[in-house]
Amino acid sequence: MRVLGIETSCDDTGIAIYDSEQGIVGESLYSQVALHADYGGVVPELASRDHIRKTLPLIKSVLDQANYQASDIDGIAYTAGPGLVGALLVGASVGRSLAYSWQIPAVAVHHMEGHLLAPMLEDNPPTFPFVALLVSGGHTLLIKVEGIGQYDILGESLDDAAGEAFDKVAKMFGLDYPGGPAVARMAEKGDAERFVFPRPMTDRPGLDFSFSGLKTSVMNTIRQQGGEPSNAYTSGIGIDDQVCADIAAGFQKAVVDTMVIKCKRALQATDLSRLVVAGGVSANIELRSGLNQAIRKVKGEVFYPRPAFCTDNGAMIAYAGCKRLMAGEEQGLSVSVKARWPLNQL
Ligand code: KG4
Ligand code: ZN
Repeated sequence: MRVLGIETSCDDTGIAIYDSEQGIVGESLYSQVALHADYGGVVPELASRDHIRKTLPLIKSVLDQANYQASDIDGIAYTAGPGLVGALLVGASVGRSLAYSWQIPAVAVHHMEGHLLAPMLEDNPPTFPFVALLVSGGHTLLIKVEGIGQYDILGESLDDAAGEAFDKVAKMFGLDYPGGPAVARMAEKGDAERFVFPRPMTDRPGLDFSFSGLKTSVMNTIRQQGGEPSNAYTSGIGIDDQVCADIAAGFQKAVVDTMVIKCKRALQATDLSRLVVAGGVSANIELRSGLNQAIRKVKGEVFYPRPAFCTDNGAMIAYAGCKRLMAGEEQGLSVSVKARWPLNQL
């Protein structure tokens, strides 16, 4: 089965074709980062308008890349939530309409299920059951996964998502959006032991997360060092580059240690040995090395998507949609999207 995947939930237009025999045969991503850069974050209306401009041309170019005609496609998968409603509506209406005119089925995909299944596109995919840590800009989730659609939420963030914490800390340093990669780059030159930040909610049982206090600690540390956290994307916050790098490294280490503790706890609680880590923050090198070391020690295995499939992309939606279409699922002709959509409601 050959499925065209369309992802437009936020600021990336992601298109891909997944062939159940051959894997991903065409893939393209258009990032709106430059469009939103001046605003310090995603402007929903601008995002929707840009998806309108990019979705159809990208579909055409991915079909060309795969050397496929429209008639080679057997089904269309589009992200129906969670995400920005206007942005989701673009991909959903284009996907649903194309499926109607090509007389093939369409299926609505949950964005986080796409992230969760992204490691299945790699050469050594995990087998069910496993524990998944999903760390994106909007969500931090620990899930026991028994199979596709069988998701038991073990823990989640009670406030900021992990990616959101990176983005907010980046903003304090006057770094550009999206902040995760920028903070990680800044932290490379830093001493992670110089400033010690809390490992939130690790001193009590449970698998929930909270990153908002950690963010406040970073803000207080910047002030204690004589700086003033930036509110806009300005350069220079009154403390020297090395202190900034040390704070960034300490913050990143606190996030990594917290994730490591919770993932080990989740594997122990479920008596499982396989851990899947996906979503934008799973591209973080320190997170990968911290988890690899810790999980190896407890004789477990960790699986990640390739870096390009950690952040939003069309391939994960094409794959998740293909699995659902092959299981006989499909949407009617009406188009509906959801800004909020708990994964365990699937
Ligand atoms: O999964 P994603 O592309 O979009 C959502 O579904 O939210 O995740 C985006 C998030 C952003 O918060 C971004 O700062 C973060 O992932 N991110 C990173 C890294 N790359 C992306 N955070 C830390 N380190 C990275 N290397
Ligand atoms: Zn995402």
